[in-house]
Amino acid sequence: MKQRLIGKSGISASAVSLGAWAIGGWLWGGQDDDQSIRAIQASIDSGINFIDTAPIYGFGRSEEIVGKAIRGRRDEVIIATKCGLRWQKDFPKQGNYHFSSDEAGIQQRGSDGALYDVYRFLGPESIRWEVEQSLRRLQIETIDLYQTHWQEETTPIEDTMATLLELKAEGKIRSIGVSNAKVHHMEKYRSVGQLDADQEKYSMLDRKLESGSLPYCRKHDVAMLAYSPLANGLLTGKIGPDREFGAGDLRTWNKRFTVENRRKVASLLRELEPIAESYQLTLAQLVIAWTIAQPGVTHALVGIRNEAQAKANAKAGVVDLSDTDLVTIEKALASQGNAIV
Ligand SMILES: NC(=O)c1ccc[n+]([C@@H]2O[C@H](COP(=O)([O-])OP(=O)(O)OC[C@H]3O[C@@H](n4cnc5c(N)ncnc54)[C@H](OP(=O)(O)O)[C@@H]3O)[C@@H](O)[C@H]2O)c1
Repeated sequence: MKQRLIGKSGISASAVSLGAWAIGGWLWGGQDDDQSIRAIQASIDSGINFIDTAPIYGFGRSEEIVGKAIRGRRDEVIIATKCGLRWQKDFPKQGNYHFSSDEAGIQQRGSDGALYDVYRFLGPESIRWEVEQSLRRLQIETIDLYQTHWQEETTPIEDTMATLLELKAEGKIRSIGVSNAKVHHMEKYRSVGQLDADQEKYSMLDRKLESGSLPYCRKHDVAMLAYSPLANGLLTGKIGPDREFGAGDLRTWNKRFTVENRRKVASLLRELEPIAESYQLTLAQLVIAWTIAQPGVTHALVGIRNEAQAKANAKAGVVDLSDTDLVTIEKALASQGNAIV
């Protein structure tokens, strides 16, 4: 498994990493906890030692499941989690309103009391409270990478960063990252202290970063963690026109998953199939290998739901795609990628 540094932190972690959003069940149509624990353990056994979670993934559930799965194996894993999305009923609604949701993600709009109103908030006291909650749910003493999940406009970034640096000095966290941030946000974080990672949406279908944050991160030695590298599963080649999703699965309403778009994706993937076969890879493995081969992308955070996916995805972490094949993939993306939503 390829290992990559998380910025200047000195922490090395597997390039193919485990994204634990789906494991929280929320917005993924539910998830069986025992299956999740087996999947996480299978990932670790297969060489994936970097796990990314967040308090919001299942409103605490993902962190709790990760905590259970790594019990007794703490020294084998690098744990990343996040702060800055607050939903608790006693939270005094500070920061910027982000969205509303129930625990399953079935009800998203309106407010009938059963919903959580989620706010983006990065105030110092709130972060201090959140880090303790995450440490408790994960059952660990220190978080290896702590990231601000979404950026907000009500707290000066300098104050947020000062708090994160204090937490680092206290040993509660070992490195600092941002997510869903722009270059101007990172500039401010970096003006106060060392920023080690940026976590952004990046896949064959989502490449805006290449003209923005990606060159910036490369220049300043900030790790780039690509999220949703399989476009929520669409790029695995396993989502044909007949696949249906359960209630609360974001793919029921995401316009990426219209039958028309699925057909366009299938056409693109057909063009990539001979390359995958030449390396004896599945399409999902090829897509993951392509992601971590992109200049500046240090880690691919791949979501999983079961042991089979965990083991299969780990294999992408040992593949070196040739320059010729990378050019062929680029040509396919140039000719077909733009037509895909
Ligand atoms: N910072 C942020 O705001 C943010 C936002 C989104 C994601 N993330 C991070 O990025 C991680 C990954 O993103 P993601 O979960 O959105 O999507 P993803 O990695 O693009 O897709 C994951 C989904 O693809 C399917 N899949 C995975 N491996 C497969 C395989 N080998 N064969 C067939 N299907 C497979 C699974 O769903 P099915 O089996 O149900 O099809 C899985 O849940 C998250 O878990 C999270 O850690 C962060």
